[in-house]
Amino acid sequence: MRILRALMKNAATGKQIDYFSRFSPSPLSMKQFLDFGSENACEKTSFVFLRQELPVRLANIMKEINLLPDNLLRTPSVRLVQSWYMQSFQDILEFKDKNGDDEKVTYAFTDAVIKIRNRHNDVVPTMAQGVVEYKEAYGTDPITSQNMQYFLDRFYMSRISIRMLLNQHTLLFGGKVRVNPAHPKQIGSIDPHCPVTDVVRDAYENARNLCDRYYMNSPELILEEFNVKGSGDPVTMVYVPSHLYHMLFELFKNAMRATMELYGDALEYPPVQAQVALGHEDLTIKVSDRGGGVPLRKIDRLFTYTYSTAPVPPMDSARATPLAGFGYGLPISRLYARYFQGDLKLYSLEGFGTDAVIYIRALSTESIERLPVYNKSAWKHYKTMHEADDWCVPSKEPKDMTTFRSF
Ligand SMILES: Nc1ncnc2c1ncn2[C@@H]1O[C@H](COP(=O)(O)OP(=O)(O)OP(=O)(O)O)[C@@H](O)[C@H]1O
Ligand SMILES: [Mg+2]
Repeated sequence: MRILRALMKNAATGKQIDYFSRFSPSPLSMKQFLDFGSENACEKTSFVFLRQELPVRLANIMKEINLLPDNLLRTPSVRLVQSWYMQSFQDILEFKDKNGDDEKVTYAFTDAVIKIRNRHNDVVPTMAQGVVEYKEAYGTDPITSQNMQYFLDRFYMSRISIRMLLNQHTLLFGGKVRVNPAHPKQIGSIDPHCPVTDVVRDAYENARNLCDRYYMNSPELILEEFNVKGSGDPVTMVYVPSHLYHMLFELFKNAMRATMELYGDALEYPPVQAQVALGHEDLTIKVSDRGGGVPLRKIDRLFTYTYSTAPVPPMDSARATPLAGFGYGLPISRLYARYFQGDLKLYSLEGFGTDAVIYIRALSTESIERLPVYNKSAWKHYKTMHEADDWCVPSKEPKDMTTFRSF
């Protein structure tokens, strides 16, 4: 009887997932996030928005998970991830017909939101584990790899966006007061005056600590700042400092590792340079190292999940945390940059060093969430047979020129 009830519940949830996946997610701008957190925003507004938007975002990505190869879906890790999504989707639907004016309801909702956030804490390593299990068992081919990269970019982006919504709600309405005790000037996780160079320094210092522990030394930082407004004021912007920190920390770790590996036991190391420039449209941060660079042929590969030249780090945390390991640093950082319509690019001078550049929209009205949507175009990505390249593939051996002469 219980099994039957569970089956019926799952079938009903399946229908709900179909229903909500037909809506496109509604991207919010940084400004809208701020307005949500302003004085007159109320918990009820946030509740009403989230009880529709969260199922939409969850359903869109759940439909896409189902397009993964069957053998990947059958791995214990991916099943676990799917069960978390299913549970969270059901948890939110519980509030479908509840009255948002009732404080008990909104309290319970905030509790549910916190529970969901915690439940999904380990989604990234668990999904990564699933991919590793699948690759080990079934190998991989270029098309599957391409699909996987396409999927993971969208899946992790969806997760970043859902966490942003969950975090904003809990930080604004989870406590008795609406200020974040650790950062009283922030609106939830957003700082309307995020001091960019402070975040750069913070990320550098923490990466440097790891570097010192691992290599017993570390490169210095040279930091420069340019403001198009010419006032010499420190550069600030409306942004999520934790996202900015995440990207910079990853870039500094990479820059330091490259430098230390290249210079071996040298007593002095070329410094890592960071430049922050605020223009009319972009806020750009460049992190440059002289760690020997990467050939152009490999640059794209660095953004694929699971590409790393570092040995797999040990799982026991007793040993010093290494500077690199899983190969998720760059791809996830690029997602953070793209999430608010920015980007992250790597330019390398092989034999010399690398410039990693973070682009962020300087205007908060243009920082709008970039969200995957489940539709026919997305579906086609997984289902279309990939056709032959429309550019000639150079053969390894140069053609025998005598054949051309006979024409
Ligand atoms: N500044 C750099 N100079 C030289 N090589 C780099 C640089 N940044 C990245 N790489 C190369 O790109 C690979 C992938 O980088 P990524 O940050 O994504 O993963 P990782 O550093 O290996 O592991 P982690 O997930 O811990 O960051 C690195 O292993 C390294 O080979
Ligand atoms: Mg890294």
